Amino acid sequence: MRLDVVTLFPDWFAWFVTQRHVANALAAGHELRTLDLREHTPLSGGQVDDTPFGGGAGMVLRVDVMDAALRAHYGVDPVDLRMQRRVVALTPGGRLLDDRLVDELAREPEITLLCGRYEGFDERIVEHFASDAISIGEYVLAGGELAAMVVCDAVMRKLPGALGHSESVREESFSVALEGRPEYPHYTRPAEFRGWRVPDVLLSGHHEEIRAWRLERSRERGATGGG
Ligand code: ADE
Repeated sequence: MRLDVVTLFPDWFAWFVTQRHVANALAAGHELRTLDLREHTPLSGGQVDDTPFGGGAGMVLRVDVMDAALRAHYGVDPVDLRMQRRVVALTPGGRLLDDRLVDELAREPEITLLCGRYEGFDERIVEHFASDAISIGEYVLAGGELAAMVVCDAVMRKLPGALGHSESVREESFSVALEGRPEYPHYTRPAEFRGWRVPDVLLSGHHEEIRAWRLERSRERGATGGG
């Protein structure tokens, strides 16, 4: 998979790509590149944003700046780009990210993530350049960069080669294997600590009983909204 992030802060991603599962995915041939909006702005002084029409606080990312950056990088009209690849605008008003959407994105060969800043995007960016608008939660971040990292993190850990054990992706919270419910609890050594014992069944070696116990715990958590 090729993931491109359009951002005013490409440096932020230098740390992100050193994280183990991201580094593993990159070593396995997947790509994560950043595209610096400011490098491509046609405006003087590196300007990328402007005051909102109609008044109000904050600044809005300009549509002509996004147009120039996408056009320079991909060599096509950005209006056509979203026909060739998924172009995702990260915005608090978008479709809420969940495991189903992450799976959907993980199947794409190429994705471009657009990070807004300040008050966000000129709406024409979302309307004409993006194929999707995605939110990572109902709260407002100062920009789309952390949201882009959340998307990249969740998507890249699903890619073959990112995690040591492919089973950890198959049977985890919200997965199809767990019928969309939260994951069962995990325990490790010591088997007893301060009088808190690990459930006996997990020490029993009976794989079928363990499986049944885990499914049951997952169902309980799904019913109570815990986990
Ligand atoms: N940009 C600012 N807040 C955001 C959020 N909650 N999700 C995605 N992008 C954002």
